[in-house]
Amino acid sequence: MVIKKAVYKTSVVSIDKILNDGLAEFAFVGRSNVGKSSLINRLTGKKGLAKASATPGKTKMINYFDINDSFRFVDLPGYGFAKVGQAQKDVWSGLIGQYLTGSNALATVFVLLDIRHTPSELDRQMVEFLIYNQLPFMIVATKADKLAKSKLANQVKGIAKTLGIREEMFMVVSSETGYGIDKILNYIEHKMESNNE
Ligand code: GTP
Ligand code: MG
Repeated sequence: MVIKKAVYKTSVVSIDKILNDGLAEFAFVGRSNVGKSSLINRLTGKKGLAKASATPGKTKMINYFDINDSFRFVDLPGYGFAKVGQAQKDVWSGLIGQYLTGSNALATVFVLLDIRHTPSELDRQMVEFLIYNQLPFMIVATKADKLAKSKLANQVKGIAKTLGIREEMFMVVSSETGYGIDKILNYIEHKMESNNE
């Protein structure tokens, strides 16, 4: 699919303000700095659309972007980023968890994981939470440009095993080079087609 139009819609910071007008939502979750905002920018071909930064904790609100006037991308704050002195919270206790169970139009939750690393405890919690709540999700392994191509498949295998989920649920991408971006766009296209059936 081709994204012809991508516009910022709104940002919300509390659960009572989330959009519920029925437009299908593709949400991006994952630990701080994993590349959620960068992926939205790459998918849409608009560099500054979602605010990305090398400093973790850049995205603090639920940010909605309208795509082709037919669905939405939802950029969520990262988890696992705690300021010094703050305790690390469960992934579902705050706004992210409330959004995921509160949205009535979730088409897919893309769970982003850095392809170089073993999933963290919070990553595991997120996957368990999605399975428990029967929410549709896919895993996106990010920053593929940071590894040799020959190593990608093995990394995916290891991460899939750690999480106890099938390798078919993984898509490997790089927002830096564009690697794998077409796969996500195809996935979204198919999902939207089956949504409309
Ligand atoms: P928070 O909003 O803090 O939760 O982070 P985020 O998940 O939105 O990450 P963001 O997109 O802001 O990216 C974090 C850093 O990773 C930035 O410095 C990006 O340039 C970098 N980054 C993101 N994707 C890639 C990628 O595919 N390859 C490389 N090499 N760097 C990336
Ligand atoms: Mg972000």
